[in-house]
Amino acid sequence: MTDTLVKEIRRLAAEKQAIILAHNYQPPEIQEVADLTGDSLELAIRASKTDARVIVFCGVHFMAETGATLCPDKRVLLPNPNAGCAMADMLTADELREAKAALPGVPVVTYVNSTAEVKAESDICCTSANAVQVVKSLGTPEVLMVPDRNLALWTQRHTSQKIHHLEGYCPVHDNLTAAAVAEARRAHPGAVVMAHPECPPEVIDAADVVRSTSGMLAYPGESDAGAFIVATETGLLHPLAKRYPQKRFYPASADMVCADMKLTTLADVRRALETGEPAVTVPEPVRVKALRAVERMIAVPR
Ligand code: 13P
Ligand code: SF4
Repeated sequence: MTDTLVKEIRRLAAEKQAIILAHNYQPPEIQEVADLTGDSLELAIRASKTDARVIVFCGVHFMAETGATLCPDKRVLLPNPNAGCAMADMLTADELREAKAALPGVPVVTYVNSTAEVKAESDICCTSANAVQVVKSLGTPEVLMVPDRNLALWTQRHTSQKIHHLEGYCPVHDNLTAAAVAEARRAHPGAVVMAHPECPPEVIDAADVVRSTSGMLAYPGESDAGAFIVATETGLLHPLAKRYPQKRFYPASADMVCADMKLTTLADVRRALETGEPAVTVPEPVRVKALRAVERMIAVPR
């Protein structure tokens, strides 16, 4: 059944001139059927460069919105329209306008895990892969980073610029505790702990390395260690095990599952290709302003 679905998806993708992008947290079968997998930044850059007529974004709503922002001439599909992001939902454009009014003249750095309306109110975007470089590129004494307080607190460790932040967070990462990391270390002595900057400060303190999902995918190739504890959404374990079959990977906590990232099925992808729905669009006045912030981010060297 799965084989048949995969063949149909590949046939339809060719017929419709579609590219299938999948985030590193997607279920293994979705990552396998995709043309390209990656972190938020890689997928945004790839979306901006593709010749395809249709982009099937296997991820969550804000990622498809970023695709639609970058590629107004393409049809951007989110195969499961219910795939949202709890963190992106924590900040509205009105709330950001209020925060900006309290910090006049301070530039706003917005994590891509946000709505297009929030991006449109921002000076520049960032991802977990380039947050420090983006903040430093501004060269201002202060910045306001939204919506993720943990990403802001982690970035603050790497710059002398004053970082103001709001109180958004990713429930999947924010729930992880230093005690859970210590427990995983006891279960896997000698394993290197890799954590995502969306984790809270106590987990960052307990980690050996802090990386975006693509950074965590690269790190075992640079390390002599044979075992790793992975403090991010458990979807990343699939590409890690595939890329490094001789190494061992363990979740920091089996609870680190983003339900939204697991909603998309192969049947959803096939239906989206067949019907050209559901498409994600961004109203033009919002898109133009959000595009400025996303393009400014892409221009910052990694
Ligand atoms: P990255 O893939 O950019 O590390 O983002 C993690 C995430 O939470 C995406 O939803
Ligand atoms: Fe949003 Fe967290 Fe899920 Fe990423 S893992 S989509 S930040 S809720």
